[in-house]
Amino acid sequence: MQETQPRARIRFRDEGPEVEDFKTEVIENLSRERKTLPCKFFYDKTGSALFDRICELDEYYPTRTEISLLARHGEEFAELSGRACHVIEFGSGSSVKVKLLLDKLDEPATYTAIDISRDHLIGATSALAEEFPEIDVEAVWADYTQPLSMGRENGDAGRRLGFFPGSTIGNFAPEEAHAFLERSAETIGAGGSMLIGVDLKKDEETLIAAYNDREGVTAAFNENLLARINRELEADFDLSAFSHDAVYNREHGRIEMHLVSERDQTATIGDRSFDFRAGETIHTENSYKYSIEQFQGLCREANYEPVQAWTDPAGMFSLHYLNVA
Ligand code: AVI
Repeated sequence: MQETQPRARIRFRDEGPEVEDFKTEVIENLSRERKTLPCKFFYDKTGSALFDRICELDEYYPTRTEISLLARHGEEFAELSGRACHVIEFGSGSSVKVKLLLDKLDEPATYTAIDISRDHLIGATSALAEEFPEIDVEAVWADYTQPLSMGRENGDAGRRLGFFPGSTIGNFAPEEAHAFLERSAETIGAGGSMLIGVDLKKDEETLIAAYNDREGVTAAFNENLLARINRELEADFDLSAFSHDAVYNREHGRIEMHLVSERDQTATIGDRSFDFRAGETIHTENSYKYSIEQFQGLCREANYEPVQAWTDPAGMFSLHYLNVA
């Protein structure tokens, strides 16, 4: 397979993410008493395209709400961040969001995107470098959930602003979210800040609809995980015998996505076999929802001082500006 090559305008840094052993992790997770699959595996080419469609759905309010908050409060982010700051985005998701931010900041000096998906990273940063020729763009191919060596050897002596939109933090268990925040504060360093998007707690009906859309795009996104395992790991999951389910777990304050086995069945991956009872599920994703105060509490425990939080009039989604304590 041909790899996408970085174009001249971006600086490319290879922080050598370990090549994930997809098969080992899948087998390990399906061997548990309660079967799971890590949600990071949703995002192959098909899964990423399905996720882009989810972001456009009527029922999936987070993307459009966050975009409207970013558009509305740009001047405030600029004032808080000062001139010539260095923007570091954890994950290089939707360029729409970071472009809104870069457009409003006061002459940002550099933009660094960190992402585990090499092709996506290079594509997104190359396009951005063309649109913002005055900004020095860097692409770091790395797993941002792991410790990063983000030295200042490239002359970015100024203030750093971390950017982590999309409520991706909600896909981490609270202890993982804490670890991520602590590590990001270290990467950003003293005097720096973080702008982070967090989905809010709300009525269950709205939440459940957002993960059970009428068109069935979220179901296809969830089911693609088994299709991917079949494609890449010589597996024989009967895709017609698993169905999508998304429920709100009130005790933990999270949406849970599952793949439900419709009948007693056995699936094989290479020489390993896995038995499923009718009704047994594979737990594929958690999406935690926070209150503003709850999220600020988590940040305080992880070396950040909350400065300001913004929400939309209906209180659906929040943006948080945090200073490294
Ligand atoms: C990426 N992440 C924040 C999404 C979420 O809402 O938890 C992933 C997603 N899963 C189903 N729909 C969207």
